[in-house]
Amino acid sequence: MKQFISVKDVPHINILVKQALAYKASPFLDKTLGANKRIGLLFLNPSLRTRLSTQVAAQNLGMEPIVYNVDKEGWSLEFAEGAIMNGTTVEHIKDAAPILGNYFDILCIRTFPTLVDREIDYSEKIIHQFIKYAGIPVVSLESATLHPLQSLTDIITIQESIASNSNFKNKKPKVVLTWAPHIKPIPQCVANSFSEWMGAWGEAEFVITHPEGYALSSEFTQGATIEHNQDQALNEADFVYVKNWSSYEQYGKVLTTDVSWMMTNKKLALTNNAKIMHCLPVRRNIELSDEILDGPNSLVTQEASNRVWAAQAVLAEILKATSI
Ligand code: CP
Repeated sequence: MKQFISVKDVPHINILVKQALAYKASPFLDKTLGANKRIGLLFLNPSLRTRLSTQVAAQNLGMEPIVYNVDKEGWSLEFAEGAIMNGTTVEHIKDAAPILGNYFDILCIRTFPTLVDREIDYSEKIIHQFIKYAGIPVVSLESATLHPLQSLTDIITIQESIASNSNFKNKKPKVVLTWAPHIKPIPQCVANSFSEWMGAWGEAEFVITHPEGYALSSEFTQGATIEHNQDQALNEADFVYVKNWSSYEQYGKVLTTDVSWMMTNKKLALTNNAKIMHCLPVRRNIELSDEILDGPNSLVTQEASNRVWAAQAVLAEILKATSI
């Protein structure tokens, strides 16, 4: 694996999951794999879990991580080819990225979409410009349309839960991705990415439920069952992934904040005693009720903790693939 920006970069999901779980059991298994290697973590947007889990993962492999909050501390970057830079941007990616490629062995980028211009966001211009000009392996820490480290973590968490439950010996789990309300326009990244990974993984019955107007791009949802009736979708679910996203069709718009879509214990009763997932951060009592988040079915802390092992498995694969 020479980069990690989507599931398409992963030859075998289950092998990566197995590696991640090996690191969970023994965090310092490969503590010298990244010795004398430096990893740059560039944040154009805020983060708690992604930032810290990737630093911990890199250090577990013996790498030196350096975090650079471009949005707060850096020059404003220009990404357009041929730009006449007489506006607010100060430095072109063509000039900045090759320098980062010399400073680091792996470059990780977090960037969010504009939620204004769908064509620009879905072209993934920013991360592709870093790949084009840095000349070293690039890892997505969430891009304009995808969050692959989160999705790998989610599959690790589902697999752990399945492994500890004998009911899944002869049956595929039913996994439901449900839209939830939110007060602000939120990217489609987590939902796109989870859908894409579930399709590629293929070891679950996968259902997506959302109100009318919230269909995700079909490039990510192939193979999923789409059900607009949330109660129907939740019937007999084994895992419920709760997430808000803004409209893809009416791009970036909040079309409804219908509270009846919030995940509550009443909704949980419709399921097969489902485990509840969310990538965090979460708006309590908007997306998910306190009773769910603080209850026995919530996997959210385990899920967020697993971010370390997902990142460690990915970084290790890149180090092995690029070692000289
Ligand atoms: N889930 C996730 O990406 O969390 P952060 O935004 O805190 O990194």
